[in-house]
Amino acid sequence: MNSIDLFQNPLPRWFKRKSRPTVLIKELRERDRRRMLKHFLGLERADRLLRFGSALPDELVGSYVNGIDFSRDMVFGVYNRVFQLVAVGHLAFAKTDPGKSAVTAKERVAEFGVSVGRSVRGMGVGSKLFERAAIHCRNNDVDTLYMHCLSSNQTMMHIARKAGMAIQRDYGEADAYLKLAPPNPGSMLQEAVEEQFATLDYTLKANTRAAVKWLDRLPGRKRR
Ligand SMILES: CC(C)(COP(=O)(O)OP(=O)(O)OC[C@H]1O[C@@H](n2cnc3c(N)ncnc32)[C@H](O)[C@@H]1OP(=O)(O)O)[C@@H](O)C(=O)NCCC(=O)NCCS
Repeated sequence: MNSIDLFQNPLPRWFKRKSRPTVLIKELRERDRRRMLKHFLGLERADRLLRFGSALPDELVGSYVNGIDFSRDMVFGVYNRVFQLVAVGHLAFAKTDPGKSAVTAKERVAEFGVSVGRSVRGMGVGSKLFERAAIHCRNNDVDTLYMHCLSSNQTMMHIARKAGMAIQRDYGEADAYLKLAPPNPGSMLQEAVEEQFATLDYTLKANTRAAVKWLDRLPGRKRR
């Protein structure tokens, strides 16, 4: 079984990445649902196929977004400079039968799905979302993180391998899973600090956006 420990061991391989812009990962809530829909509908057809495993029509993408249960799952997002949601990671939790599961003794496992808009690819956003999902699992008593993707998805397979995931390929699809170390003060602190910074950034961008909209509505202003 593969396992990672983000803090007790020297930095894991997937942590040591090239110098890249800071990526702030924000927990998404009910108020972000509309922007999530916009992000998913904005994905190109090929990316939608990679994200959902099939080329879902718009209505089903809408049902997926409306069906996300924020009280059970965790959704993470990245906002760009102009407050557009450019990446979304959905960490879905499922109950296990702890006595019977061959994989975990915990009560829940998690599955991660992610999409990053083309304008911000290759900057470490997908990896960072994955890393945040893994830390959130650790801090919430989940030690098994799954990911399902098409095995032709070279980028995602690369991220999975980099994270040390065990990968099984079958009929063009790949199931990957990662065993996670228990939480420690470092993992708790990292998640809390990251969320604090992302919340500040989110608030600033949301307020700026609201101010720009308000100014645009003033009489005599040209519409953008
Ligand atoms: C997969 C996806 C999330 C990656 O997002 P991203 O922000 O570009 O990812 P990152 O920048 O963190 O990392 C990309 C890594 O893949 C590597 N990579 C890119 N294209 C690659 C390819 N064709 N083959 C192998 N590796 C590749 C990059 O070099 C980079 O590696 P590095 O961090 O070691 O340098 C994004 O491409 C996407 O949204 N795809 C469509 C939806 C999807 O496939 N979702 C996954 C299924 S759940």
